[in-house]
Order: sequence, then C-alpha cells, then structure tokens
Amino acid sequence: MKLLVLNGPNLNMLGIREPGHYGSESYSSLVERIGEYCKERNIEVECYQSNHEGALVDKIQEAYFTGVNGIVFNPGAYTHTSVALLDALKSVSIPCVEVHISKVEERESFRQVSFVRTACIETITGHGLNGYFEAIDILEKEQK
Ligand code: DQA
Repeated sequence: MKLLVLNGPNLNMLGIREPGHYGSESYSSLVERIGEYCKERNIEVECYQSNHEGALVDKIQEAYFTGVNGIVFNPGAYTHTSVALLDALKSVSIPCVEVHISKVEERESFRQVSFVRTACIETITGHGLNGYFEAIDILEKEQK
C-alpha cells in the first residue's frame, strides 16, 4: 500500500502556531512518527506539506500517476475555500480521509464549511495529531 499524507498551509508551523488548538508537537516530529507507524505496517508513505494551493493540486495529480492508494489530507485553511482541491480529489478518485487537528465544528462559523468533504470517505476532527494515525488505519482497512 502506498499513502500520501498531505498537509496544507501553516501546518509546517505545528508546535509554534496556536498550541491551544494544535498542540506542542512539531511538524517534523509528526512526520517522523508517521514514518515509523507506516513502516511497522509495511505501508509506503510520503508526507508533503505546502503553503500553496497549486502545489497541493499538483501533488494530488502526481499521486494518481504514481499509484498512490490513499490520501490523508489536512488542507488547513484551504478546506474552507478551495474548489480547486475538491476538483483535484474528484479527478483522481483516490480514497481520501480529511483530518483536522482541532474541533473545527466548535470554532468560527467560516470553519464549519469544508469544500473537500464531499470527495472524502471520512472526516476526523478534534483528535489532535492522533487523527492522522486514525486516518491511516481507515485507509488501510479500506484497501483490504
Ligand atoms: C485545521 C483547521 C483549519 O480551520 C485551519 O485553517 C488550519 C488547521 C486543523 O487541523 O484543525 O490550518 O485544518
């Protein structure tokens, strides 16, 4: 199995940005833990983060051409704005789990909207960084 863990804008600032919402663990520590978790399960994984919408679209398209079978996606603020990311996910039809570290449904009203959600098999919110690992489990089961 081949997974892509995709993170959108400002998620490289984990551990620095708003720890009340996003905790104290850094992005690089998360990437390391995901690598170990996937290795134990014999899953090939790539973690990619970008602050740029087009780069995220490019990465989703690349996933199609490189045989990725599952995407874990935290689109950050683009969740609430991006038709382009929705269209990219729909274009490739790769099972995708939407992850939000914070409980977006209990925050500002603009965070209640997710453009990508209709292209995702599940959404996890408010489980902190554990949400990424839960999403990997969901995609692994989906593959079997
Ligand atoms: C987020 C929630 C978004 O509203 C926010 O813009 C983020 C992170 C989360 O993980 O909780 O950047 O996706």
